[in-house]
Amino acid sequence: MQKQLEQTIQIARDEIRSATTLPDLANLKSKYLGKNSQITDFLKRLRELPQEERPAFGAIINEAKKEVEELIDLQEKSLVEKEYVRRQEASRLDLTLPGRRNDRGALHPLTQVWREIEDNFISLGFEIAEGFDVEDQFHNFDALNTPKDHPSRNLADTFFITESTLLRTQTSTVQVRTMEGFKPPIRIISPGRCYRNDKLDASHSPVFHQVEALVVDEGITFADLRDTLNQFAVKMFGPDIKSRFRPHFFPFTEPSAEIDISCVSCGGRGCRICKGSGWLEMGGAGMVDPNVFEILGIDPERYSGFAFGLGIDRIAMLKYNLPDIRLLFENDLRFLRQFK
Ligand code: DAH
Repeated sequence: MQKQLEQTIQIARDEIRSATTLPDLANLKSKYLGKNSQITDFLKRLRELPQEERPAFGAIINEAKKEVEELIDLQEKSLVEKEYVRRQEASRLDLTLPGRRNDRGALHPLTQVWREIEDNFISLGFEIAEGFDVEDQFHNFDALNTPKDHPSRNLADTFFITESTLLRTQTSTVQVRTMEGFKPPIRIISPGRCYRNDKLDASHSPVFHQVEALVVDEGITFADLRDTLNQFAVKMFGPDIKSRFRPHFFPFTEPSAEIDISCVSCGGRGCRICKGSGWLEMGGAGMVDPNVFEILGIDPERYSGFAFGLGIDRIAMLKYNLPDIRLLFENDLRFLRQFK
């Protein structure tokens, strides 16, 4: 019987050591140590031995049982360890792999300039007012003191939607809407889109952008207008920029002027960009015409005001040194990516 036991244990040792999975090991555990296991079987068979041999052999069986238990424990620990290492290996990060790039978006250069203009005027105490792209003749022309036979009302210049509605040709419409809705003191700017029936070329686009300004209060003078424009030009283009006014005519301002700033490229000496003149045209300005005040119910004896309109596309082109306005509207990614 002792021989048989030794054989059984020998086989158990081999089997346990070569078990490769935890379930296999669990099977071996019940095979050798369970209720109906081979080793338990030897204990049951102790009765077959003469009385005096039983204690000694019993001790041998228990010894064998203990050995098998220890072997199984050891093998279990080793399998758990191996499984842990295997999982670690499987889930290991390869830090040498190249990362996945997240391409960051960016604001369109026009939007960037638009916001910078807003910030600069806000710092001068202005508020932002908004108008509509679709307007009527009253807000685009009549209330702005524009004669019925003025050439700008022509179909060749203005996109009409119906006889009375149109795509606004200027942000000056927001002057009207502001004076309709608010009493002085008024100090607003209004950036926005404008539309004119112009042929698309390097310096004209049928859709373009203006920023309008309107200040109305008691005692507003031409000097306030000049100073505001100068301060804005300096904020936008730097401390060396100067501005100048040239006499002009607009129906809604009197007196009116066209605004130039000193060339951002040559500083006024004359170059290709300013066509040798040293000056760049930025827009129009003037003192609000008393007729406009009267149409909108503001007392021209008590209040005075100034207004101006600047080209946002023009400012963007000068700021970024762009040779062609179409670059701003074509959405060519190779162009836009340079403004990140
Ligand atoms: N609306 C004019 C244009 O589109 C620009 C302009 C001139 C605006 C004089 C003004 C102004 O507010 O006072 O040409």
